[in-house]
Order: sequence, then C-alpha cells, then structure tokens
Amino acid sequence: MNNAVDKVDPNSIPKRKLYTGAEIPAIGLGTFGSDHYTADQIAGAVKGAAEIGYRHFDCAAVYGNEKEIGEAFQEILSGNISRDELWVTSKLWNDKHAEEDVIPACKKTLQDLRLEYLDLYLIHWPFPNHHSPGVDGSSRDPHAVPYIHENYMKTWRQLEELVVLGLVRHVGTSNMTIPKMELLLRDARIKPVANQMELHPHFQQPGLFQFCLDNDIVPIGYSPIGSPGRPERDKTAEDTVDTEDPVIVRIAERLGVHPALVCIKWAVQRGQIPIPFSVKREKYQSNLEAIVKDPLTETEMKEIAKFDKNCRLIKGQVFLWEGAQSWEDLWDLDGHIVKKY
Ligand SMILES: NC(=O)c1ccc[n+]([C@@H]2O[C@H](COP(=O)([O-])OP(=O)(O)OC[C@H]3O[C@@H](n4cnc5c(N)ncnc54)[C@H](OP(=O)(O)O)[C@@H]3O)[C@@H](O)[C@H]2O)c1
Repeated sequence: MNNAVDKVDPNSIPKRKLYTGAEIPAIGLGTFGSDHYTADQIAGAVKGAAEIGYRHFDCAAVYGNEKEIGEAFQEILSGNISRDELWVTSKLWNDKHAEEDVIPACKKTLQDLRLEYLDLYLIHWPFPNHHSPGVDGSSRDPHAVPYIHENYMKTWRQLEELVVLGLVRHVGTSNMTIPKMELLLRDARIKPVANQMELHPHFQQPGLFQFCLDNDIVPIGYSPIGSPGRPERDKTAEDTVDTEDPVIVRIAERLGVHPALVCIKWAVQRGQIPIPFSVKREKYQSNLEAIVKDPLTETEMKEIAKFDKNCRLIKGQVFLWEGAQSWEDLWDLDGHIVKKY
C-alpha cells in the first residue's frame, strides 16, 4: 500500500490514554454504511483512510462487512504499517450474548478481519434483542427482553475471558446508561475502558459523558455529525439537524469549512473520540484534517455546550420488548433500569 501525498502524519493525531496506559487515536473511521453503501465500498474507504493517516477503525459483526474490511487490513498490514500502529474495535452483536456464543463470535470476527487480536471489543447493546438487517422501525423481536443484569454479567465474563485468552486487549460497552454502568462497575473483574455512545452537538449526554470521565472510561462518540444518512427506521419528524444549527453554521463560515467539521472539532476538543463515517475520500480526509488544525475557540466551545437539544437520533425502538411503552424505556430516563415486561 502506498502512502498518499495528502496524508496527515499519524503522529500528529492526538491520542487518549486509557486506564490501562494504552493509547487510542482521538478519531476513528466508522464502518456502518446504514444500508446505503456496499461492503466493498466501505473496505475501500478503510484502505484509503489508512493511506491518508487514519489508524483507528470502528467495526462490528452486524455491519456485515468485516470479511471485506479484513482484506483491506491485510493489504494495509502488508505495507509499512504494523499491527501495533492500528487500533481496531469490533462489537458483539445482540444475538450472541449467550455464554457459549461469545468466544466463537469474537473468533469469527477475528477470522473475518484477519487479525490475531482486537484492541477493543464492545457489547454492542445491553440487550440480547436483535432484528434482521434493513427492517423498518415497527419491527420487533418476539423474544425481546428488558435489561437483565445477571445475564449481561454472564456475557461480560466471557469478554473478560477473551482478554485472558489474549484475543482482545480491552473490553468496553455501548448504548449504556448510568444505572446499568453502575452495576457493571460494581461487578466487573475487568472494567470497561470505553463506552460507545451517541454524541453530537444536539445530543451531548452531559450526565453519562461526565460519569464516564469520572470513572476513567473514555467516551467514544458515534453519529458525531448527527448521522444524516441513518436508516429510515431511525428517523422521526422531531429530529433536529446539527449541521443546520445556526451556531454551527456561523462557526463553519468563520473557518470556511463544512458544518460537519465543526461537529468533529467540537467532539475532539470536548474529550470524546468521534468515529465519523464516509466512504468519500474528500470527506474522511477533511474529517481527519479538521482535528489537527484551526481549533474552535473557548467561546465557541461554550456556545455549543449551551445549545444541547437532547435529541437522540438512534432511538433503538426495534429492540423493545413486549409490554414496553416506547423507545425511552431503553434509556432509563428517570435514573432507574426499566424492567417492565
Ligand atoms: N455503537 C452503536 O450502536 C453505533 C450506532 C451508530 C453508529 N455507530 C458507529 O459510528 C459511526 C458513525 O456514525 P453514523 O454513520 O451514524 O453517523 P455520522 O458519522 O454522524 O454521519 C455519517 C454521514 O455524515 C456524512 N459526512 C461524513 N463526513 C462528512 C463531511 N466531512 N462533510 C459532510 N458530510 C459528511 C456522510 O455522508 P456521505 O454518505 O455522503 O459520505 C455520512 O452519510 C458508524 O459508521 C459506526 O461505526 C455505532
């Protein structure tokens, strides 16, 4: 693989230190095509992104493209980039939470990605509820259940075992809430190093964000641009658009850049790790460049902090169980885990 002339020096990309002492690049490339892009297009973006300086890739079994991304990794690693320079995350899908399924699922991901270990393995959602690819928002898993902590811990123990086996360097969570995190931190033998959560200017999750920082858990922010291409099942009439926010647009005009880049700069300066998605080179390149030049001013950071609209875009309604009232039940809004059947 050739290094492109337009490459950003990977050493200039900031890193975040985990409680283990390991360092993770402060931006990664997302690889969920939201049903719009083929696996080969996304694998092509992984290769292109590595050429221009990305070293952190956010994968998941459910994205249906780990085999193709594995071919890209093989090519990347046959060039002058070594495995220890890459940071690869993957995620355990909801249909593999059973104790006996976790280790085989991780081994399948490793085989597909053509790697001997993952830097980070996450439980994708804290529920074993799943759906078929491409379903609409009204689809429900007939076997869906609310959060059951004993079961989550059984899955977590297997993630811990993956660390012991050397197949995974770090473990983490995704789509969690504070009460669920409190139980996990109470019971985990190996603590999560990171929590992947939806984070963008209109959905800043200040409580959970601060909880993560207070517990040495690095927040990884998904949908950092407000996921304009998210699947139809995740769109509602009330959703707001970060890149059309007048403050974001004004800052973008000052810098002469697309508003998406203001969202990326804000994320990194606030202290979360954004993982923006695009297969288009000019976009993923500008996202990477955004974090090494022209920072937002302190005043701009404060202005953005003030306009949080608490607008969750990835509501997760397809994971609801029989008897649940609405998607809010997934997110423990009153501080207690919703357990209703
Ligand atoms: N843990 C979870 O449950 C979870 C959930 C959702 C996402 N994720 C992860 O987070 C990643 C990112 O989230 P996401 O894809 O939902 O949302 P996102 O990164 O906020 O939005 C992606 C969209 O933004 C556009 N975009 C990217 N860079 C741009 C730029 N510089 N200028 C203008 N537009 C730009 C892209 O448009 P084009 O299509 O035109 O390139 C793409 O469709 C995913 O790929 C996945 O890895 C995790």
